[in-house]
Amino acid sequence: MLVDGKPYRTVWLESAARSVGIIDQRKLPFSFETVELTSTEETASAILEMYVRGAGCIGAVAAHGMYLASEECREKGLSSVDFDECFRKKGNELCATRPTAVNLEWAVNRQIEAVREKDSADEKVQIARDLARIISDEDATWCKQIGEHGLDLIRSLLSNKESGDPVNILTHCNAGWLAFVDHGSATSPIYAAHDAGIPVHVWVDETRPRNQGARLTAWELGKHGVPHTVIPDNTGGHLMQHGMVDLVITGTDRTTHTGDVANKIGTYLKALAAKDNGIPFYVALPSSTIDWETRDGVAGVPIEKRGSEEVAMVSGVTDEKIYEETDVWIVSPGSPVANYAFDVTPSRLVTGLITERGICEASESAIHALFPEK
Ligand code: MRU
Repeated sequence: MLVDGKPYRTVWLESAARSVGIIDQRKLPFSFETVELTSTEETASAILEMYVRGAGCIGAVAAHGMYLASEECREKGLSSVDFDECFRKKGNELCATRPTAVNLEWAVNRQIEAVREKDSADEKVQIARDLARIISDEDATWCKQIGEHGLDLIRSLLSNKESGDPVNILTHCNAGWLAFVDHGSATSPIYAAHDAGIPVHVWVDETRPRNQGARLTAWELGKHGVPHTVIPDNTGGHLMQHGMVDLVITGTDRTTHTGDVANKIGTYLKALAAKDNGIPFYVALPSSTIDWETRDGVAGVPIEKRGSEEVAMVSGVTDEKIYEETDVWIVSPGSPVANYAFDVTPSRLVTGLITERGICEASESAIHALFPEK
């Protein structure tokens, strides 16, 4: 996507050897800065500390981290078998950073399998570098295709509106291009509709505690000229009761092959409110986010717990033109806090899944019909 006229992806191979570029998303929307990663360790910290976040982006950055890992294993002058073991261990370090988004494990395992096929260290490094690029390109293509399928859905809702009124879409967290390599999942249909001249307006949940909606989704939509309004997380139900939401589209960090959707904490409550108000609740995802093993999302998806400071403190700037973030305490001193990063929306509350191959019901049979090779 364009940032002030310049095309960006969220991760790229730098022209200098052994270097991967990312956007430091922690500083958005107040400062746009890029960072170079040169080791597996730096990549793991960038994921853990949320320089990069969002399922697809984490997967693509991990794939690039595995390329850096392959360089580190080559440097040790190991036999093919020992190289593979060194590579696997570095993959485990990356996978340990964030447990919920399945794209991370998916990308790392894909790298491990690809590298095992080659004999020499040079070939292994080359294949890891090539695969990092392939995984990024695939992610961008799949997200674009999600936009094309979701566009039809948004267009179909336009016929229920008075002429000129926008289709009001509510989204939670950031499943935009920053959460992937490009285009985003939940935002891709929105960008496609806006670009096709369909009037859309987006209700952006602020998404406490880290405010990915208020900070990232609002920034993205603003840069693309999409009309939007940031709302506190508790507002969606009220808007739905008053006919102010036509459609909910969220992303997901892991969706089971039976259709249960793990996404940023608070998504489940939006799905309940949507069900109560008869509002379609769609989830947009590339197939790299499908967990092909877990059947019961509520019981089986690991839910990341993060530090209490994310809840107890809020971070922001006092002057929007000077990038100097200040953390302030907002919780009564001494009160314990809990920080569950994700929740699971059972498939029965999900109207449909928007994937790169089309839209399907959130059910085992429909998902497998769309991806028969699985
Ligand atoms: O904790 P994050 O920022 O990595 O959480 C991921 C998200 O932004 C959301 O849960 C998103 O809706 C799905 S990721 C495409």
